[in-house]
Amino acid sequence: MDREFARITDEIKEKQEITKEQLEYIFENSDEENAEYLYRAAREVSEEVFHKEVYLRGLIEFTNYCKNDCYYCGIRCSNKNAERYRLTEEEILSCCEMGDKLGFKTFVLQGGEDAYFTDEKICDIVSGIKERFPDSAVTLSIGEKSKESYKKYFDAGADRYLLRHETANEEHYSMLHPANLSGAHRKQCLRDLKEIGFQVGCGIMIGTPGQKTEHIYEDICFMKELGPHMIGIGPFISHKDTPFKDEPNGSVEKTLLLLAILRLIFPKVLLPATTALGTADNLGREKGILAGANVMMPNLSPVNVRKKYLLYDGKICTGEEAAECNMCLRNRVERIGFKVVDIRGDHPDFLKN
Ligand code: 5AD
Ligand code: FES
Repeated sequence: MDREFARITDEIKEKQEITKEQLEYIFENSDEENAEYLYRAAREVSEEVFHKEVYLRGLIEFTNYCKNDCYYCGIRCSNKNAERYRLTEEEILSCCEMGDKLGFKTFVLQGGEDAYFTDEKICDIVSGIKERFPDSAVTLSIGEKSKESYKKYFDAGADRYLLRHETANEEHYSMLHPANLSGAHRKQCLRDLKEIGFQVGCGIMIGTPGQKTEHIYEDICFMKELGPHMIGIGPFISHKDTPFKDEPNGSVEKTLLLLAILRLIFPKVLLPATTALGTADNLGREKGILAGANVMMPNLSPVNVRKKYLLYDGKICTGEEAAECNMCLRNRVERIGFKVVDIRGDHPDFLKN
C-alpha cells in the first residue's frame, strides 16, 4: 500500500479539494490496491449521504435529429448513416406511463438539438407530463438554448436540466467541436440554467482525444465554481461514422478514479453510473456504484428507436424492453448490496422531510 496515495486520498476527503499535482499522482499511481483505497473512501462518503440507495432516472431519447456536428457523437448532423426519428408527444407520454408503472419518479427527455421541437412543443410536452404525473420530476437534456427558452421550460414545470460541459478548457473544446460551438457559451448556458432555478447537471467524457490531466483539473475547478446538482461522467467510446472513429476509447479505470474523486470533493452531488461506463465494461455500472456513484439511468425509449440513438458504438440495452432494463438494473444493484429506491431522488439540499 502506497502511503502517499492514502495520504492524498484522505486529504482530498477532508478538504473536499484537490490540487493538480494530487490529481496527477492519483492517475499515475493507481494500482489495484491504491485504487481500492480511493474507491472505499468514496463509497464511505456516498453511503453516509445516500445510505446505499440508488436513484433511477428513466431516460427517453425522443429525437436523434441534431443540428450540431460534434466530432465524437454518432448523431452529429453530417452522419448520413444515422436513421433519424422523432417521437410524438403521445409516444413520449406512453414511455412515461411505462416508467410510472415501473416505479420511476424522474423522466429525462434527451434529444439532439432539433429545431422541430420548438419551445412551444417542449413546453407542451413538459406540462403534459407534469399534469399526468404530478409527483414526478421532469429533466430536460436538449442542448444549448437561450436563457429565455430555458425560462419557458422552467415555467412549464421542468425541474432539472442536463448539459455536460464536455471540457472546461477552450482549446480542448475546439478539438472536439466545430468552430461554431464554444465552451464559453456552453458554460454560460449552465450558469443561466442554475440562475433560473433548475437543478443542473454538467459533466465530461473521459479519454476524449487530446484530453490531458490538466484539462480534467480545469473541469473540477469549473464544477466547483458552478456547484452542479449532478455530474455525469463516462468514458469516450468511438463511433464508426465520426471523425474520431479510429481514436482509442477512454479508460474505465480512469472514469472510476474520477468518480471516486468527485464523490470525495462533492459528497452530496448526484453521480450516475452511466450507460457508457456499462458499455465499456459489462460490470462498469456496478463498479461505478462501488466507487461512489448513486444514480442509474435505465432506457425507457421505445425498443424500435433504441438502435437509432447511438452516440457511440456498442451501446448496451438497445435490444431490451423497458421492463427488462428495469429488472436487470435492480438485480445488478441488489447483487452488490445496494438498493434501488423509487423516489424522485432530488439533490440532498432539495430534500424536504
Ligand atoms: N462516447 C461517450 N459519450 C458520448 N457522448 C456523446 N458522444 C459520446 C461518445 N462517443 C456523451 C456526451 C453528451 C452525452 C449525451 O453523451 O458527453 O453530452
Ligand atoms: Fe438494460 Fe441491463 S440495464 S439490459
